[in-house]
Amino acid sequence: MRNQLLLQLPFVLILIFIVSFKLTHAKSTIEPCTSSDSCPSLLSYVLPWDSKLSEIAYRFQVNVFDVMAANSINITASSVGNQIFGARSQLKVPISCSCVDGIRRVMLSYIVRAADSLDLISEGYGRLVSGEQLGTLNGISPNNPLTSGQSILVQLPCTCFNNSNNGVASVFMSYVVQSGESLSNIGVEFGAIVKELVGINGLDQPTVDPGDIMAIPISACSSANLNWYNESLIVPNGSYALTASNCIKCICRPSTLNLQCFPSGIVNACSHLQCKGSNLFIGDVSINRTATGCNVSTCVYRGHNGGKIFRGLLNSSHSHCSDDEDYSIVSPVASPENPTVPYISLPPSQSPFPNRTIGTDAYGPSSRLNPSSAPKYGRLVSEAPYYSLWVVLCLFF
Ligand SMILES: *[C@@H]1O[C@H](CO)[C@@H](O)[C@H](O)[C@H]1NC(C)=O
Ligand SMILES: *[C@@H]1O[C@H](CO)[C@@H](O)[C@H](O)[C@H]1NC(C)=O
Ligand SMILES: *[C@@H]1O[C@H](CO)[C@@H](O)[C@H](O)[C@H]1NC(C)=O
Ligand SMILES: *[C@@H]1O[C@H](CO)[C@@H](O)[C@H](O)[C@H]1NC(C)=O
Ligand SMILES: *[C@@H]1O[C@H](CO)[C@@H](O)[C@H](O)[C@H]1NC(C)=O
Ligand SMILES: *[C@@H]1O[C@H](CO)[C@@H](O)[C@H](O)[C@H]1NC(C)=O
Ligand SMILES: *[C@@H]1O[C@H](CO)[C@@H](O)[C@H](O)[C@H]1NC(C)=O
Ligand SMILES: *[C@@H]1O[C@H](CO)[C@@H](O)[C@H](O)[C@H]1NC(C)=O
Repeated sequence: MRNQLLLQLPFVLILIFIVSFKLTHAKSTIEPCTSSDSCPSLLSYVLPWDSKLSEIAYRFQVNVFDVMAANSINITASSVGNQIFGARSQLKVPISCSCVDGIRRVMLSYIVRAADSLDLISEGYGRLVSGEQLGTLNGISPNNPLTSGQSILVQLPCTCFNNSNNGVASVFMSYVVQSGESLSNIGVEFGAIVKELVGINGLDQPTVDPGDIMAIPISACSSANLNWYNESLIVPNGSYALTASNCIKCICRPSTLNLQCFPSGIVNACSHLQCKGSNLFIGDVSINRTATGCNVSTCVYRGHNGGKIFRGLLNSSHSHCSDDEDYSIVSPVASPENPTVPYISLPPSQSPFPNRTIGTDAYGPSSRLNPSSAPKYGRLVSEAPYYSLWVVLCLFF
């Protein structure tokens, strides 16, 4: 009996290997949550096939302008959404990260097409969800197969960690590890150090496997200290955001991580973007050389609320007048304590475009962007347990 078992051992081992290979679930970093509010987050999406921007926006149920803004693609009247990106291109999809059953996730619905399989749908979402997870979530089985036209739920992992990474305003991006990639490759690509990635993702060892979905911090510009009225905005490094019914474009400059806002030029209905008592428009700067240096006036954006755009003149004196310095960038310290904020009314719903952008006031008060609040990080875990493997082994013996 014992010998027989020993003879079988190689087959058992092979079986274990095959079974565990098939059942090894890619892990993803999860963030527990309690509140029901959502927060701004990013998904890194490697295109499985050539796609139009508008198709990508539709698939992830986001505004195509927001996708363009997150990828720093300029918006021109003729081209909105029509750009085609090739298979394997990598895009950032700005997404509102919700709290579902105590874990941060993105919930989407997907209409099944004739030739779809669970695996094909998983591929369509850049493997941010596995076919197996889709099957479990929707109760798909041989007895209950996918049917064309059916609407299924899609859950993708996202994290926010209070939009703070060690006190630096950040947006976290869900990233599917590609084959051949290591933590240090990924760190170099996104400007993060390995130690940081290990901490954020709660890794026991500084290694990840292809298919794992990790959280990567992207440092961001935040309006938290800019003294804005009724709006908070967080814009990832190197991208821009549209706000105030798309009238205003705010860029996050990579060098300084300061927000720079000016009229977007894509909506005709925006008028009166001028600062009172001056000929300056939002984002404009007037520089006068004086005997002692330089007097600078800047017309700055100050937030929006209820269809109103707030803006104000900011004066400063500098001991040097530098041509290199960009005086339109407002650093938090330059905010006056008690500014008077003139405002104009925007004509309501005149914008032909939807107004949801990443990190607008839809995401709540700016206190949640407070960079000083300590982040509490997640853990890279497999959500589906390995019990099926043990069931198979128990049956075998
Ligand atoms: C995008 O627009 C900005 C001004 O809004 C301009 O400075 C920049 O050159 C444009 N980039 C491209 C690639 O057209
Ligand atoms: C900001 O919003 C609050 C409530 O929504 C409102 O009472 C207040 O007047 C607003 N502030 C400004 C400057 O509009
Ligand atoms: C912002 O991104 C650029 C690359 O786009 C990078 O060179 C720079 O270091 C980043 N800045 C910060 C503060 O992370
Ligand atoms: C420059 O600004 C200072 C105070 O901000 C003011 O006293 C001075 O008159 C200004 N000079 C000119 C030439 O505008
Ligand atoms: C610069 O000078 C012009 C004309 O003298 C004046 O209208 C403007 O307010 C001055 N700007 C600043 C920043 O002092
Ligand atoms: C800024 O300077 C301009 C003149 O350049 C003046 O009209 C305006 O009142 C000043 N604003 C503040 C807030 O001091
Ligand atoms: C978009 O703007 C309209 C009118 O300004 C406003 O009623 C609506 O609540 C806004 N939607 C969002 C998501 O901010
Ligand atoms: C996020 O910040 C809020 C207050 O700013 C704090 O109460 C909360 O514990 C923080 N959450 C995490 C996960 O750090």
